[in-house]
Amino acid sequence: MTQAKTERHVILASAFLLILFVGLTLFVSSIVRAAPSPDGAASTAAFRAKCAMCHGPDGSGSEVGKSMNVPDLRSLAVQKLPDAQLAQIISDGKGGMPPFKSSLSEEQIHSLVVYIRSLHQKK
Ligand code: HEC
Repeated sequence: MTQAKTERHVILASAFLLILFVGLTLFVSSIVRAAPSPDGAASTAAFRAKCAMCHGPDGSGSEVGKSMNVPDLRSLAVQKLPDAQLAQIISDGKGGMPPFKSSLSEEQIHSLVVYIRSLHQKK
């Protein structure tokens, strides 16, 4: 093998590796971006599991919730609260609502805030 040929092989091999690396990075980042979709299945499931027993699957309030005077999460009174306050209510609880900071991560709480926002649009 001549010197020139070896160099060409090295260049080809590194170009190949570079393309492979870029492709892999794009692939991984597309998966990562797809995972925490704001009002996707995960937050819907979390809402159904943790909140719907009082707030109803659509946020309007279940029978149990209505007996506790839960506000309609779709209402302007709730929707006008800033994200930070919604997140704080979810994490610390309020009145008859239990705190969730020990059972939900900050990200889960954030996606529930996004979910509550999406309820408003569906009304
Ligand atoms: C045990 C019943 C119960 C569960 C479970 C529950 N809540 Fe509540 N929630 C309440 C009650 C009662 C209130 C009204 C509290 C008040 O204003 O005194 C409330 C109020 C709220 C409010 C509005 C607060 C305001 O100031 O208007 C939001 C937002 C909320 N809940 C979100 C959630 C989310 C998200 C979950 C699930 C992680 C959840 N809740 C689970 C009972 C519950």
